[in-house]
Amino acid sequence: MKIVMVASEANPLAKTGGLADVVYALSKELAKKHDISIFMPFYKISEHKAKEAKLLKNLTIFMSWRCINTKLYFLEIDGIKYYLIKCDQYFNRDALYGYEDDIERFAYFTIAVKQIMTDLNMLPDIIHLHDWQPGMLPVLIRDDKNNQLNHAKFVLTIHNPAFKGYFNPYFLGDLYGMDDRHYIDGSIRFKDSVSTLKSAIMYVNKVTTVSPSHRSELLYQDISDGLNEVLKFRQDDFIGILNGIDDHEFNPRTDDKIYANFDLRNFKSKKAYNKKCLEEELHLKVDDAPLYGMVSRLTWQKGIDILLPTIHGLLAKGRKVVILGSGERKYEQALENLRREFPDCLAIYLGYNDVLAHNIYAASDFFLMPSLFEPCGLSQMIAHRYGTLPIIRRVGGLQDSVISYDGHNIEVADGFGFDEYSESGLWWTFDWCEKNYYQSAVMHQLRKNAMHVNHDWKVAAQKYLNIYREII
Ligand code: GLC
Repeated sequence: MKIVMVASEANPLAKTGGLADVVYALSKELAKKHDISIFMPFYKISEHKAKEAKLLKNLTIFMSWRCINTKLYFLEIDGIKYYLIKCDQYFNRDALYGYEDDIERFAYFTIAVKQIMTDLNMLPDIIHLHDWQPGMLPVLIRDDKNNQLNHAKFVLTIHNPAFKGYFNPYFLGDLYGMDDRHYIDGSIRFKDSVSTLKSAIMYVNKVTTVSPSHRSELLYQDISDGLNEVLKFRQDDFIGILNGIDDHEFNPRTDDKIYANFDLRNFKSKKAYNKKCLEEELHLKVDDAPLYGMVSRLTWQKGIDILLPTIHGLLAKGRKVVILGSGERKYEQALENLRREFPDCLAIYLGYNDVLAHNIYAASDFFLMPSLFEPCGLSQMIAHRYGTLPIIRRVGGLQDSVISYDGHNIEVADGFGFDEYSESGLWWTFDWCEKNYYQSAVMHQLRKNAMHVNHDWKVAAQKYLNIYREII
């Protein structure tokens, strides 16, 4: 089967979040038996990682009245063909997103993908889109009736429904060279704007999201600006598939980034050693108290609002916390303040650091994920691999991948959970975790259960293949 993924980020070239992990890991698994390409922008941050990329073509992309000089690069990694679209005016910037012209940047990307696939005479069976950025692609292709790409079927995966790609319908003509037919018939209109996410939902053959529970939340609850009303139209073609994680990247037995490797036979002493080394390196006090770890984007979605006041209480009791991430300035500042107050109990690293991330997974006792909403979440699965017990809010994919310990399910539980999005909900859970922390037999069993869970991509990749097969 010929499959083309279209995404705004993918490992190992550009990553801000789980989207990049998933696009890459899913493609890698599928590439074992199928022909997989990824189309993505060639960002400034990707340059040093894509040194081997070959220039395939210089071309001009026609975007309404604009003619935009573009270079197409090609690179093969792990059996995946990467097509990298280079355009300095849009992508030669320090960050991936967060610019005033993001709508224009990804309109350009979408149009470029269509033009390039057509020029290269590609005949994919499946075009698999991720999130809002390439959302107009199916509309553009279906409207261009004689284009050979009409032979392809489309799948959209919603990783983060909070971003809908809203824009004023005026830009339909100005960016996409389209008239307002589809705006008037309502198929791409949402809240009196165009939404690229809604457009994709309406025009693709199948819609997926990244866990069964998040599918239900999106369909049956109004958690995303009324998107449930749109998804109801596509209910029968809407599927939830839980993501996996890259088993090779996150394997405590072979991970060369952590202080000491371990597996099910020796994790007790080795995890303790990893904890001690990390605490020393981060200048935290080294003692018996639990270490809570977190690796996350620092945004409202991730539950930082309830976390900050609650960890203040933990730190005041002498518990240790290590947080790696970056995001909204107000959260970063609040964390800096907390660190000043508790320098030997709180360590923070604002930014991304792969080695530190692996060490947090390996060394922590508990892993924090009190998300407000979480379509899937990958960190809780990584934590499992390293025998670190996730503390989750039971939403979306968190609920589908972690079994909370309730005092009676020691045979199967592999984490801790709460439902109500509140400081007291989280506080109560910390209390419950600590009661168990000092019962080493309980902790040992829970950690063992966690390390036993199989979050391999194989299962999920097979489910995507089944969907592809159903529609081609
Ligand atoms: C988004 C979601 C996260 C999910 C990831 C990959 O970042 O917020 O829950 O795990 O996409 O699908």
